[in-house]
Amino acid sequence: MDLPVGQNDYSEVIENDRAHVWHHLSQHKKYETVDPMIVVEGKGMRFWDAKGRQYLDGVSGGVWTVNVGYGREEIADAVRDQLVKLNYFAGSAGSIPGATFCRALIDKMPGLSRVYFSNSGSEANEKAYKIVRQISYNKYGGKKHKILFRDRDYHGTTITALSTCGQPERKEQYGPFTPGFVEVPHCCEYRSQYGEVDNYGERAARAIEEVILREGPDTVGGIILEPVTAGGGVIPPPEGYWPVVQEICDKYDILLIIDEVVCGLGRTGKWFGYQQYVIKPDIVTMATGVASGYAAISCTGTTEAVLEQFKAYPDDPMSYFRDISLFGGCNGGPAAALANMQIIENENLLDNVTAMGEYLMGRLNGLKDKHSIIGDVRGKGLFCGAELVANRETKEPVDESVAAAIVADCLANGVLIGMTNRSMHGLNNTLCLSPALICTKSDLDEIVDAIDAAIRRVVA
Ligand SMILES: Cc1ncc(COP(=O)(O)O)c(C=O)c1O
Repeated sequence: MDLPVGQNDYSEVIENDRAHVWHHLSQHKKYETVDPMIVVEGKGMRFWDAKGRQYLDGVSGGVWTVNVGYGREEIADAVRDQLVKLNYFAGSAGSIPGATFCRALIDKMPGLSRVYFSNSGSEANEKAYKIVRQISYNKYGGKKHKILFRDRDYHGTTITALSTCGQPERKEQYGPFTPGFVEVPHCCEYRSQYGEVDNYGERAARAIEEVILREGPDTVGGIILEPVTAGGGVIPPPEGYWPVVQEICDKYDILLIIDEVVCGLGRTGKWFGYQQYVIKPDIVTMATGVASGYAAISCTGTTEAVLEQFKAYPDDPMSYFRDISLFGGCNGGPAAALANMQIIENENLLDNVTAMGEYLMGRLNGLKDKHSIIGDVRGKGLFCGAELVANRETKEPVDESVAAAIVADCLANGVLIGMTNRSMHGLNNTLCLSPALICTKSDLDEIVDAIDAAIRRVVA
């Protein structure tokens, strides 16, 4: 039986990890002299490592995933009950949790009506790309096959998802990439490409149109965008951006894919990030918050009009969506996802996100008033970033080692925060916060106070 946290001896686990586990996003040389962090338990907003140290989690499992917090027995029970009844069956057949969850999800997404299951954000996006490509093939003889993506956005780790990555450091050394994907400019007003303009949002959206016209509108079939750019530095869209993007998509008959892998299921204070703005997506992908990490499940949601195009030629044996995700048939995913949605609803977590998000932004702006190293604070709901600069006037970014030292100081003091990580050359300078949707003011105070103290120690 497990002893209370901190009293077990995990030295064997640590050695097995050191010898055999290849950690994500990690340079392993350091583990020859430093123990890898092993996380053993979580409850609510907090988790414990193998040495018994307790941490307050400001980033929901490190990567904005555990939205309803750790240790949710109702989700674990729902998954267990489903697994003993029926753990798996290929997704060509339906399931009780699958159908029930899809009904509940679609209720939150007016305009969409279909959900395709897979296991990761990358995979959900790859499905969207394949949908665009197949529609192009059937409707436009393959010509309208190009898919646009935005500078600073991220859509996943597979080679084709990386082909749509607007973060050069993530792509470096992994090419050549899949052809047919074209970058459009970012929309980070703090780093305006057009000088100081009073219609930055519209200008940034028109830059997309310029790319479409350059490529030829009859060659562009889709565009993928994050509602709020996540790993690229937490970039909410500037005022006036989305209406123009929507107008452009309508004008040139371009399918709008919204990547809700991070924003979906409540992170910004609405069920989906795009619902903060006036957008009518054709395809919506989601992953992290779908089951808060209690099961691996991702979804590609579409309108009925999209599905209709795959029903149009029933006599053609090649005309349906010839795609499968083996583990998209794991029933633990939708069972967990349904219980996760029920928690968000029962505990009014969307309202909490809005209220706590405002509180967090207020506290971060307070920090900005105190510390000139903070050049910009931005965010939506419980999804915030603080961009660090060496000089407020010139906006020269701090070296990423400074941001890393602040993150390390917080961790040493029991608070986990994030930062832009190996993403953009010279711009890995944004601290990222995405606490669980259940957080309280006192959790946020603890997180912001840790950053305050860390800045004082690191910058002093
Ligand atoms: C916006 C966005 N899309 C897609 C992905 C890829 O998700 P996964 O790692 O599950 O493939 C991520 C991962 O962080 C993401 O932030």
